[in-house]
Amino acid sequence: MYAVVEFANQESVASLLEGTAIPSISHESLVPFKSRLLSMRNLDSRDVLNQPSIKKGQAQTSIPINELIQRLSKEESIDQQITSLTEAYQLTEENCRLRFLVCSLLKDIAASFFPECTIMPFGSSVNGFGKLGCDLDMFLDLDGISGKNATMPKSGLFLEYQMKRANFERIVTQNILSVIGECVDQFGPGCVGVQKILNARCPLVRFTHQPSGFQCDLTANNRVAMKSTELLYLYGELDPRVRHLVFTVRCWARAHGITSSIPGAWISNFSLTIMVLFFLQRRSPPIIPTLDHLRDLAGPEDKSVIEDNDCTFVSDFSKIQLESNTETLEQLLCEFFEFYASFCFSKLSINIRKGKEQNKLPAVPLHIQNPFETTLNVSKNVNASQVDRFVALCQESSWLIQQNITAPSRGGTKGNATITPWGVSTLLLPSQVAGIKSRKRRKFEPTSERIKSLLESLKNTNNQPNQS
Ligand code: GTP
Ligand code: MG
Repeated sequence: MYAVVEFANQESVASLLEGTAIPSISHESLVPFKSRLLSMRNLDSRDVLNQPSIKKGQAQTSIPINELIQRLSKEESIDQQITSLTEAYQLTEENCRLRFLVCSLLKDIAASFFPECTIMPFGSSVNGFGKLGCDLDMFLDLDGISGKNATMPKSGLFLEYQMKRANFERIVTQNILSVIGECVDQFGPGCVGVQKILNARCPLVRFTHQPSGFQCDLTANNRVAMKSTELLYLYGELDPRVRHLVFTVRCWARAHGITSSIPGAWISNFSLTIMVLFFLQRRSPPIIPTLDHLRDLAGPEDKSVIEDNDCTFVSDFSKIQLESNTETLEQLLCEFFEFYASFCFSKLSINIRKGKEQNKLPAVPLHIQNPFETTLNVSKNVNASQVDRFVALCQESSWLIQQNITAPSRGGTKGNATITPWGVSTLLLPSQVAGIKSRKRRKFEPTSERIKSLLESLKNTNNQPNQS
């Protein structure tokens, strides 16, 4: 059990550390690097931690899917199910603090070389869409070092730092991450499984921070990702339906293996989130504005150009006027599946900057324009069979949710009633479409028509929900 303790003042920390001992061990040797992770040893024979007065810590991982299905099945409406799913999965305040703490512990290591650096979380830890147990993406920021903006005299002598040079910024980033990765590996208490992935498009050091249980990715020189994080956060804050829908779609996708924690040809959570945002921009009236609109609302203080990419968008939420769309979460979830079940992925690209489909090259199975580096495709890794699976599952889920739209009446004695999955719960059960994996891609045809005729034929033959 761990506790994150915040002190009101620096002196208290100093006095705590003054009384803290270096462990005395006999059969191993210690790396004498002191971190702010302390262990509490109990020298009494009494087992203090088992005393009833000690509160049990809250689990830092999300509930298992079967438990979630049960929990959702007890809700009264699909809207409540979606809200309940978000509550069960979202990061807690303490988990969020733990993430900032791990960043600051890493900063202590990096600061040995770069005392003015900062390490900040980005990605789902802070963009509002993080699920308990998601990885911790960290950004080593070296841009804030003093002296960059020092004014040089027009003539005469002046002093400048001697600094090592390299041909490319990428090489500098790789070298810094390599050394810090080495230090994390050799000196970082609780940091295990360190992998340096320096040849990736965005070089990174990956490791597990055992005390917190976080899988960590440390990157540097990755300002655009910080901007995407801010943008996603903004969209999530504009309307509560955004976060609810993203959580539900991410959970659904994970349950069916559309997304995975293993890198591969899957759709990433980031891509999936952009797909949800795009869908919400396509509602009539739109629930969220386009990125171009957010850029047009920006003031001079919002201007941001990173490596020639225009990353400007408004940061003052009060300047954003939303349209009055009153669709319920239930409607939106059903429509989401319909929308992507019939989306012409072979011809069209998803573009949240314009809020409109754009034409794309047919050779790319899935094209989702990177919001800031507009020549890049965030789903470049995705292959055609993954797109097919996604479409097939959208078709199935669209049908399933319409079959299970109302909560079944509860039989049995109170508290003893059998819980029948319904609504969102049914979407999380293993896929019921036979051979969905091997299904060949269908030619573009409006799914709504297909589903309507399917429903019609079901109505004529059987009025019972399909739960066989
Ligand atoms: P999970 O970790 O899966 O919960 O979601 P995440 O949003 O944190 O995704 P991930 O850890 O894969 O990436 C972290 C952040 O990096 C994302 O939130 C984006 O801001 C950014 N990112 C991820 N993939 C891409 C990509 O393909 N292109 C760009 N430009 N940014 C990306
Ligand atoms: Mg992440």
